[in-house]
Amino acid sequence: MSLLETKGLTRNYGGLRAVDGVDYTLSKGEIHALIGPNGAGKSTFVGMVSGRIPTSAGEVWFEGENITALPAHARIKKGMAYTFQITAVYARLSLFDNVALALGRRERPHVLAALDRVGLADRADQNAGDLAYGHQRLLEIAMGVAQAPRLLILDEPTQGLAESEIAGFNDLIRSLKGDTTILLIEHNMQVVMALADEITVLETGKILARGTPEEIHANAAVQNAYLGTG
Ligand SMILES: Nc1ncnc2c1ncn2[C@@H]1O[C@H](COP(=O)(O)OP(=O)(O)OP(=O)(O)O)[C@@H](O)[C@H]1O
Ligand SMILES: [Mg+2]
Repeated sequence: MSLLETKGLTRNYGGLRAVDGVDYTLSKGEIHALIGPNGAGKSTFVGMVSGRIPTSAGEVWFEGENITALPAHARIKKGMAYTFQITAVYARLSLFDNVALALGRRERPHVLAALDRVGLADRADQNAGDLAYGHQRLLEIAMGVAQAPRLLILDEPTQGLAESEIAGFNDLIRSLKGDTTILLIEHNMQVVMALADEITVLETGKILARGTPEEIHANAAVQNAYLGTG
């Protein structure tokens, strides 16, 4: 059964159609990667799914319900969590307080467990602003994970992570899989190939291709548009 579905999802910015009539389905329990060149419309697409960006046309369905008119906070209540492409942690609050705020509760074991999943539990009392950029991204993931979401949307989560930290990130995402369905926007193709059950390629607001990692890797149109490896 599909967890998420979009029908003709569209967003215009003046004369620019950033997302252009996207029909998309995401099955429960899947790790789905959304890739495509800069400006393809990936962030705009998930912005409409999460309710932060109003739609120009089309519909968003979540667990069989049309949620197109629901505000973002109502979608969070229904089990969506997301991290932004631009980090959105409270720099002057501790890691603990950032997660507690996202969770809406201050249960110490629960907050520490979420921090532990991203390897940051021992820094719970530090200010978020003192973390390296990549670690702020991990903190954001902890904030999402703490909510035990049905759907976790991650917009370029590995940006700023060192090569040595990517393996830990991959392990984390695999450990979430099952109960949590994951929609991952990612430019690092090694991460995409390692994690994704399926890949959708977006180009100029439209779906160019969809398939398994092997299929996408072998797709000539994708190679031309995005992978650039010929
Ligand atoms: N608030 C906005 N106002 C005007 N144009 C916008 C706005 N947000 C996005 N766009 C434009 O919409 C298009 C899609 O942008 P979007 O950020 O969704 O792409 P993206 O695939 O996430 O790119 P990237 O990989 O660089 O993050 C781009 O041409 C962008 O310039
Ligand atoms: Mg983006």
